Amino acid sequence: MKVHEQIRFGSLKAAPPLVLAPMAGLTHSALRTLVLSFGGVGLLTTEMLSARRLPCENMKVSPYLVRTGPEYPLIHQLFVTDERELAPAIDALHRFRADGIDLNLGCPAPSVRRAGGGSSLMEDRDRVCKIVRRARALTPLPLSAKIRLGTSPDPGFLEDFVVMLEDEGLDLLTVHARLIGESFARPPRWERIAPLRQRLSIPVIANGSIDSVKAARACLAASDADGLMIGRAAVVRPWVLAEIAREIYGANLPAPRINLPDIYLRFVLALERFRPERRLGRLKEFTQYFSRNYPFGHRLASVVQSSVNFAGAWEGAVDFFRRNDPDADLAPLERWRPPID
Ligand SMILES: Cc1cc2nc3c(=O)[nH]c(=O)nc-3n(C[C@H](O)[C@H](O)[C@H](O)COP(=O)(O)O)c2cc1C
Repeated sequence: MKVHEQIRFGSLKAAPPLVLAPMAGLTHSALRTLVLSFGGVGLLTTEMLSARRLPCENMKVSPYLVRTGPEYPLIHQLFVTDERELAPAIDALHRFRADGIDLNLGCPAPSVRRAGGGSSLMEDRDRVCKIVRRARALTPLPLSAKIRLGTSPDPGFLEDFVVMLEDEGLDLLTVHARLIGESFARPPRWERIAPLRQRLSIPVIANGSIDSVKAARACLAASDADGLMIGRAAVVRPWVLAEIAREIYGANLPAPRINLPDIYLRFVLALERFRPERRLGRLKEFTQYFSRNYPFGHRLASVVQSSVNFAGAWEGAVDFFRRNDPDADLAPLERWRPPID
């Protein structure tokens, strides 16, 4: 297994080469801050941002764009369907001080595909070629793309496709190791990344179901990738990147002391940087995943999910912790009062 302690792409460095994945509704300033607090993350992302809507967004209040100083380097991901959308979108990203730009070529969500974006682009090589060429011409920022393994297990197509991406000026490629139609229930095909890696000279990041040190080791061995991207597991266990950084990349990080209610409170406090009406939805999304740390976590997820305001969700969560985490020190949670919403 080959382990690179860092990767460089364009003007950026990711050390260690561990990336927090873009996830709609989940990857925002509060999650990034929580993951950063444990350490081990070398590169951050935003969720996908509509290229068409981006020019109208306000970076001070948009929950997609709000960001604090320590969230660096931060790659903004574009959901784009046509090269003509790029000039205003990239201009906006320059104003928003993005550190790099990622093109979403892998999202299989039906609404995204119907709009002509995400993984549907992988079926239209010419359009992708124009998009990457145009993006490259419009920005000096590091440019990356995130793909799936395509629609058919035809390795020739995929190898030519990724070589085209590099030839058009891409600096970094992330591969979610599933075919476009495959669900998360199916084991990832990490080994399909290795031949792509062989054909490219830019760094390749492997993604898909990396949820532990063991899985990270297995993925690196099978994929030969230069780094790893982690999504859902970082919401369930925001310290998982730190564990992988320590065990695989030799990062000098203390073993985290895990106090789940305290981690939940830290996430909730970070939500205060969003407008009040944007907080509850994000708490619900986060809780869906974080609740998996408890054997009866579905009760936490459901009490938060059914709440109509933030105060109700918070009360339900604290009550859940009281019953299910009796050894935890809940005093800080009991002292904290959510702002009126
Ligand atoms: C709720 C959710 C939202 C997602 N949104 C995005 C997105 O905005 N852009 C993207 O490229 N991938 C998106 N993904 C895919 C993830 O980035 C990642 O490829 C996938 O979850 C597999 O990695 P994991 O097993 O580490 O979670 C999303 C995944 C989830 C679960």
